[in-house]
Amino acid sequence: MSVTSKIIRESLITGDEGKYLLRLRKESGRTSYPGMHLYRLELILNGRIVLDFRTNTFEYTGGMDIDAEKAAINRFSEWERDFTKNPHRFLEYQEKIKNRQEKLYSLTGSEKFDAVIIEGSPRPDGNSSAFALWIKEILNSLGKTVYVIYPDEYIIHPCIGCYQCYNYGRCTFRDDMTDIISLIKNASFVVICSPVYTNTVPGSLKIIFDRFLAYHAFCSLNGCKNHPEGILFAVAGRKGCSNFDSLVPVCDAFMDTAGIIKKGMILCDNTDETGDIRSIKGLKEKAEEMIEKLIKIPDIAKKADNLL
Ligand SMILES: Cc1cc2nc3c(=O)[nH]c(=O)nc-3n(C[C@H](O)[C@H](O)[C@H](O)COP(=O)(O)O)c2cc1C
Repeated sequence: MSVTSKIIRESLITGDEGKYLLRLRKESGRTSYPGMHLYRLELILNGRIVLDFRTNTFEYTGGMDIDAEKAAINRFSEWERDFTKNPHRFLEYQEKIKNRQEKLYSLTGSEKFDAVIIEGSPRPDGNSSAFALWIKEILNSLGKTVYVIYPDEYIIHPCIGCYQCYNYGRCTFRDDMTDIISLIKNASFVVICSPVYTNTVPGSLKIIFDRFLAYHAFCSLNGCKNHPEGILFAVAGRKGCSNFDSLVPVCDAFMDTAGIIKKGMILCDNTDETGDIRSIKGLKEKAEEMIEKLIKIPDIAKKADNLL
């Protein structure tokens, strides 16, 4: 989809350093959402953006008295009025806000690992955990560095659907998600290990999945080069493959959002009866084989689905 930009308002205002251009643009086509438009208000001096404010249509619900265009035009009028009144004071104040934001959102977690395993079960010695350990061992033996994420150990606020991430490509919450996104952003392989909880993934894992919307927003605005390869491992207590009918599309949707290319999955049902998956003959070898194939032959068939 191509990005289009339309100027909504423009004004030339005189400040201490010369003529400033205050411009409001409506940008469309950055995301695959047909109704999403981004309004960008910019104060420009000699071609350099001194200040900017962004808002998008998805931030505003039908029950609100205001929409994105009105909010953007209001902000345009406020900036025009305040700047004209006292350019120095206006710029000084806006600069303080900008500096605080930049400091708050400067990215941490620059550590890089070849592979990231998300172990979605809260049980540290359960079935998903056993699988995660197998995968970690095999990846380490192939010389890959591995980081295991245990969602329950992180403090992550659930997504509130404010859609502000589509303004600057970052979430309004500043919490442990920053590190998780950074780890996935730099990885070549992502493995999800999850039990079935009430037909889908456990809540803490779902919170992580939802919060990846901010990463999707970041990629929509800036483009993303890294597309890790992904594998899904899931266990269900009950017997039958239908127990994964909801979990699999949820995990697939997450991989899509995070730009992960799914390369395979192993689904292991009936743990209510079998108990510990470590007792299932050939399962560990199957997992190892899948990982080895992934690492050694980079382009194996896109979907090497397996159901035990
Ligand atoms: C809260 C909760 C909900 C569950 N819901 C389901 C379910 O909907 N379907 C199912 O087949 N198993 C369900 N199970 C069983 C787990 O999927 C099963 O015990 C699994 O082996 C646990 O994996 P773990 O050892 O990695 O924690 C549930 C278990 C818990 C604790």
